[in-house]
Amino acid sequence: MKKITFSLLFVISSFISFSQQKTVSQKVNALLKQMTLEEKIGQLNQYTGNNQATGPITINPNKETEIKTGLIGSMLNVIGTKYTRQYQELAMQSRLKIPLLFGQDVIHGFKTTFPIPLAEAASWDLEAMELSARIAAVEASASGIHWTFAPMVDISRDPRWGRVMEGAGEDTYLGSKIAYARVKGFQGNLGDVNSVMACVKHFAAYGAAVGGRDYNSVDMSERMLWETYLPPFKSALDAGAATFMNSFNDINGIPATGNKYLQRDILKGKWNFQGFVVSDWGSIGEMVNHGYSKDNKEAALQAITAGSDMDMESNAYRYHLAELVKENKVPIALIDDAVKRILRKKFELGLFDNPYKYSNPEREQAALNNSEHRKVARDIAAKSIVLLKNDKNILPLSKDTKTIAFIGPLVKEHKQNMGFWAVELPELDYDKQVVSQWEGVQNKVSSSTKLLYAKGCEIEGDNKDGFAEAIAVANQADVVVLSIGERADMSGEAKSRSNIHLPGVQEELVKAIQATGKPVVVLINAGRPLVFNWTADTISAIAYTWWLGSEAGNAIADVLFGDYNPSGKLPMSFPREEGQIPIYYNHFNTGRPAKNDTEINYVSAYTDLKNSPRFPFGYGLSYTTFEYSDLKLSKNKIKSAEKMEVSLNVKNSGKVAGEEVVQLYLRDKVGSVVRPIIELKDFQKIKLNAGETKVVKFIIDKEKLSFYNAALEWITEPGDFDLMIGSSSADIRLKETFELVK
Ligand code: GLC
Repeated sequence: MKKITFSLLFVISSFISFSQQKTVSQKVNALLKQMTLEEKIGQLNQYTGNNQATGPITINPNKETEIKTGLIGSMLNVIGTKYTRQYQELAMQSRLKIPLLFGQDVIHGFKTTFPIPLAEAASWDLEAMELSARIAAVEASASGIHWTFAPMVDISRDPRWGRVMEGAGEDTYLGSKIAYARVKGFQGNLGDVNSVMACVKHFAAYGAAVGGRDYNSVDMSERMLWETYLPPFKSALDAGAATFMNSFNDINGIPATGNKYLQRDILKGKWNFQGFVVSDWGSIGEMVNHGYSKDNKEAALQAITAGSDMDMESNAYRYHLAELVKENKVPIALIDDAVKRILRKKFELGLFDNPYKYSNPEREQAALNNSEHRKVARDIAAKSIVLLKNDKNILPLSKDTKTIAFIGPLVKEHKQNMGFWAVELPELDYDKQVVSQWEGVQNKVSSSTKLLYAKGCEIEGDNKDGFAEAIAVANQADVVVLSIGERADMSGEAKSRSNIHLPGVQEELVKAIQATGKPVVVLINAGRPLVFNWTADTISAIAYTWWLGSEAGNAIADVLFGDYNPSGKLPMSFPREEGQIPIYYNHFNTGRPAKNDTEINYVSAYTDLKNSPRFPFGYGLSYTTFEYSDLKLSKNKIKSAEKMEVSLNVKNSGKVAGEEVVQLYLRDKVGSVVRPIIELKDFQKIKLNAGETKVVKFIIDKEKLSFYNAALEWITEPGDFDLMIGSSSADIRLKETFELVK
């Protein structure tokens, strides 16, 4: 009986949703029929407001008039229920009363700021990342925002590129899982008032800019594009992403914004994407700079033809599309398709029913001062910290330590902890809203602990006048904690750096403090992997604290004093020197692989530097230890259509509870194209009490065994595979071989 009821309910609900879908399409088509060509083009037009400048602003003094006459369909950088309502009221004066869409770069939190995305990626905690995005959506949507320009899913193997801070690092599998989680978090049940549309960016391969120089050209094989850079976009689409944003770069000679292959053949064709594509800030007009368009008019033609639906800030559509239609150079069908994609989202968000649905001041007030959100931010911040070294087990420190010297240019900073792409809110008092590292330690230690401070030096510059005071303070302490790194605005958009060593004289400060003979802990704050070889060689305890957001100080103190046992794992390889870049773990073997870090004769190696990274992908220590054993495969031969179960035991062999990211890697030994020496294919983050053992299971299926061959077919090929279980890509604990048979 139950079964019949369920299936009946299912039929009824799918009919209702189908009829609703039919209703949305009908409404879109009915509205489209009423629109003039100018009004249609207005929907393809997006301008910035004044709350933030996230690109070179085009001055358009007529914005308000154009909104009232239906010539602008969306705004970005308009924040708050007050301002969004004001602009929406202008839109409601237009002939057809089509509501505006408000977009914003809500990249890692809104009022509550979470760790930068690269830091969150280091947590390998997909649920935590989804929750972080969910809270960002709750806060942003309470402030009138309908749409976030996130997640950024660009794979990057080059820490010189400042925007690595915004993504999930170098690995396609991890990046794809994180992309999915973040879209689910932002969108929730899209159409609910506490959800925002996601915008998957930057389509595509923006992270492969030559030289790690932002906005620079990208040139790669189609196979590399499909195998490494596209999967996170497809994963985000599978999660239901409502919109995409294209990228500034040219790729294989064609700017992404005018790239039919990317936007029409792949995204809207093969992947059947039903949402809309927004250009990146001015990228349509920038095709003139690229030398791909002779002028803005040609850029408009090329962009709309290639599938760029909405023009952010370039004016190209505003001033040229109508003319192009009248000259029969742009079929009205292309305009209509773009307009319908955008209108569909406005209907689905419920904006036609209530244009002010998201501009509710009471909801804004309640959502923005929420201690629950800060608790979540503190939790994921602690999980994002990567313990790089802990020789002599200096860490965790005792809360009763008699005297602690806390030294460095970032110790007492507040706003720096937010990192790049934090939302600038006028009401944010950073000194109160962000817990500094100093305050975090103050909150943690016992009343009897004496905390000493010295800045030591600035982040940049060669002034060492502060060293003497820092040394004097260190000499009075039982332990010294140093907090050093970049400035928050040294990574992010347009923040590529040729030199990613610790800036200024900070490493000399570390040396001077180390010379006191006191136990030293170094915290490194950055939005990218940095180079710090002397520190890495010499200092016993090092933690990478990235930029951790509103609760940075408390999260760092939780780890420093052992209230949270660090569990982070690096989402990017850390180079020894810039000369190694691009450096990534899943590289090919070459015909002359070096057997180790010292072999250099007639092998693929540097004669002046080790080949291996300073710290490898997937690496991170804990205050406890984990033992791996009993690796079992359910079969040692598998047909491509079959599944194989993998199981192993993981034991917490230390004295404190902790979390471990158990990583499963494969190596396809021989292929019709060369295959990486190792590839992440699954992982599980598990919590184990001291002495506890858990059985960890994975499934190997066809998807995990497949790759793109030279003909770009997604296939499997028979042959031997190494299956490796590791605590990092360079710390393989268990290994088995199995055969894939026809
Ligand atoms: C910027 C960024 C993009 C951002 C957009 C709007 O230039 O490239 O990621 O979403 O403009 O601020």
